[in-house]
Amino acid sequence: MGFPKNRLRRLRTSDAMRRLVRQTTLSASDLVYPLFVKKGHNLKSPISSMADCFHFSPDAIAKEAEEVFNLGVPAVLLFGSSDKKDETGSEAWADDGAVQMAIGEIKKSVPELLVITDVCLCAYTQSGHCGVVNNGKVDNDATCKLLAKTALSYVRAGADMVAPSDMMDGRVGYIRDVLEKEGFHDTAIMAYSVKYASAFYGPFRDVADSSPAFGDRRSYQMDFAGSVEAMREIALDIEEGADIIMVKPALCFLDIICRARMKFDCPIAAYNVSGEYMMLNAAADMGVLDREAAIMESLYSIKRAGADIIITYFAKNAAKILAGKFSERK
Ligand code: PBG
Repeated sequence: MGFPKNRLRRLRTSDAMRRLVRQTTLSASDLVYPLFVKKGHNLKSPISSMADCFHFSPDAIAKEAEEVFNLGVPAVLLFGSSDKKDETGSEAWADDGAVQMAIGEIKKSVPELLVITDVCLCAYTQSGHCGVVNNGKVDNDATCKLLAKTALSYVRAGADMVAPSDMMDGRVGYIRDVLEKEGFHDTAIMAYSVKYASAFYGPFRDVADSSPAFGDRRSYQMDFAGSVEAMREIALDIEEGADIIMVKPALCFLDIICRARMKFDCPIAAYNVSGEYMMLNAAADMGVLDREAAIMESLYSIKRAGADIIITYFAKNAAKILAGKFSERK
């Protein structure tokens, strides 16, 4: 029945035909590039656990930001790290913190580039946890206040958007209240709404020196076996004032992105995390995967699942591939 009237191969006959009927598009405008900052001078130091990623000092970051912007990528996501750690993670909201200074430097040289800052305490607490520890537990409400303080200090330094990644309950509301009170009505919040406790953050934790000193993050990040609570997390963040919601990691959680797309009418970001990045790079380095093709296939799949925005360490590679000028790393 239906054969040979229906031959789906008719629409696959040539490159032009395939382009004509192609459903999903990917452009550099969809991408966000993460950047790592720490204090120092003229610093661009390679990160051993993540190929082609560097720690920049604030005075050295503008050049990188310009390159990203010139590739057509509209936004960067800043992560700080510090040797100065204490119980509350106070370096996170220091006026002269590495992230605060880096925002200023980027805004000075590329004002059009959107600067998003990750908001979390794990790179600044002695415990390495994403919040303050009281009686051996991460204290949710005390942490929310400190996160709001941190977010405000980034916004005062010039950040366009803040992205809380800590997974405390109610933190989006806390941050939104503080920003409104301080007159920052136009600052967007991109909430890491659905953040799973994942093995795929491994390479990143080496970068930010943010591994928990005891226990793990399973009392605040989500269990990878679940999907229903993901929808509740998103609904709450939207109610509390999030402008963009995020699913993280991306590739093991495409079903969650898809469900979120069907249920919510707001921009959805997906974080293609450090482990996903290094898994593909390692396979390409071994010669068993074509790097360019695998990057495109994974980013398209994230987009096809329903993400509007992809945060990825491949942003620069992808922008170059899309512009037709990527050359394979030797
Ligand atoms: C901090 C944070 C992490 C990532 C982003 N923000 C690490 C973690 O939760 O342990 C992971 C990013 C990546 O793996 O690329 N809370």
